[in-house]
Amino acid sequence: MPHDEQLYLRPNIQVEPLIDGWYAWPHLIPPATAARNITERHMKIMDSYINMPQVHANAVKNPKMLGGPFIDYEGKRVDEIRALRENIKRERAHLIELSAALVELDNILRESAKGYSLLPLYEKIPAILRGYVELVYDLNNHPSFRLIEPLLYKSRYYDRSQQSVRLSKISNDDRPFVLSTPRLESDDALHLHLPFDSPVIDDLFRLKSSPRPWREIKEKLRVPDSRDDLLRSFLTPEAPPPYSPYAGPGVRWRYFGHACILIESQGVSMVFDPVLSYTYENGISRYTYLDLPDEIDYVLITHNHQDHILFETLLQIRHKIKNIVVPRNNRGHLQDPSLKLLFENCGFRNVVELNELEEIRVGDVSITGLPFFGEHADLDIHSKMAWLVKLGLHTLLFAADSCNIDPVLYEHLHRNFGDVDALFLGMECDGAPLSWLYGPLLSRKIERGMDESRRLAGSNYEQAMNIVNHLNCREAYVYAMGQEPWLNYIMSIKYTEQSRPMTESTKLINACRERGIIAERLYGEKEILLEPKSSPDVAPPLAIRA
Ligand SMILES: [Fe+2]
Ligand SMILES: [Fe+2]
Repeated sequence: MPHDEQLYLRPNIQVEPLIDGWYAWPHLIPPATAARNITERHMKIMDSYINMPQVHANAVKNPKMLGGPFIDYEGKRVDEIRALRENIKRERAHLIELSAALVELDNILRESAKGYSLLPLYEKIPAILRGYVELVYDLNNHPSFRLIEPLLYKSRYYDRSQQSVRLSKISNDDRPFVLSTPRLESDDALHLHLPFDSPVIDDLFRLKSSPRPWREIKEKLRVPDSRDDLLRSFLTPEAPPPYSPYAGPGVRWRYFGHACILIESQGVSMVFDPVLSYTYENGISRYTYLDLPDEIDYVLITHNHQDHILFETLLQIRHKIKNIVVPRNNRGHLQDPSLKLLFENCGFRNVVELNELEEIRVGDVSITGLPFFGEHADLDIHSKMAWLVKLGLHTLLFAADSCNIDPVLYEHLHRNFGDVDALFLGMECDGAPLSWLYGPLLSRKIERGMDESRRLAGSNYEQAMNIVNHLNCREAYVYAMGQEPWLNYIMSIKYTEQSRPMTESTKLINACRERGIIAERLYGEKEILLEPKSSPDVAPPLAIRA
């Protein structure tokens, strides 16, 4: 092949960011949560598969077990799973020790911290944790510890050699659930041992819009000659269609699926919770990577759940992002790793933290962080924020999975911020139990009844309607429902028309429409243009495309 041929990365090449072969969702990156997930999630799933592969094969086929801790290799490849387990035990022995030390520290505090000075306990802290934790009481003498997360990232416990990316072709929405199944080597995938902060990752994804010669691409990615054909099949001389940014006088927003929305207005672009489909024809029309501007001024993250922080998308667009805005949290709680540190250590620059009620302002555009209650099983977690966006006289609120557990909050917010034109709200009102996500962080098993009562649940009809009422919304959009089929690989949700999140959100939509409020459950793609408002009372959408 000619060495100077200019080639692009094809738009249907999927990238799976991996940690020791496991799909890299956000708790697998910070050292302490990673350590706990290795021992309490990955080791347990692999042990179970090695002992009973057929049980896993059957469970994966059972729709009721969707999202459960089962490996999806049809009961096969047991030797490879065993080899992976042994490799992790050997290579990550220090993280396995860290996981045990966190439990030991918890036990020491439970047994010995009774309200008296914590000073004598420092010498009992497991040696490997010394200097990385401060012991504290709350005002009721309940002991706990504070992790010095920035130091942990600089220690041997943040191990970039665990990280890699795996490239392969994708041509339809059928993609197996990735969170419980480690990725094994395969002939049709190119496994690049690059840490997430490598600039080569940005160069790779720049190839989606700027071509480079074959020889340069091959050398940069350090692909062996034996994989030339595979790499070449991921590339194409065909240029993608150019993107036309919105240049109108008002606001354009576009729904990309789940909680991912692009807004363009007055030369400012922002993307909320980026989650993209790759580009291929598969029934439902959708926006993809090709529908993003060359530069994104602000990426805004609502909260630290794996369907809202998706490194698979974020790594692809990192080179386009000028600023990434995250809720401020750095209190050293195991259950609430710092988002700023997470992104910075994964190679993102200009990570901006906002506190509740803090604001960013650019010309006539402002972004304000508003409190996001609930949906985190009553754990003390600060990495969650609803984003209030003002664009001229238009006001939009991206509340993600906020659960309106105390309506008085919205009275206060209305008093301070006034009416909201359009509300975007998730209504996954059943929610998984605490242990589904946070179980590996617990040092003692939680009682079943407690676990069931503490859920990752968003707002139901009544709670959602209450927000619409308090904020005088003229438009209400239900989103973040995990319904788009191209998201099945990270969502464990398959609703029927009878599922509560569906019935409750339908009820909301009907009730809103009866009162003349525009309401819809977003699905697939949607575009809305808002004309410039001259006074707060004139604001119909100019055009709607379903
Ligand atoms: Fe969530
Ligand atoms: Fe969600």
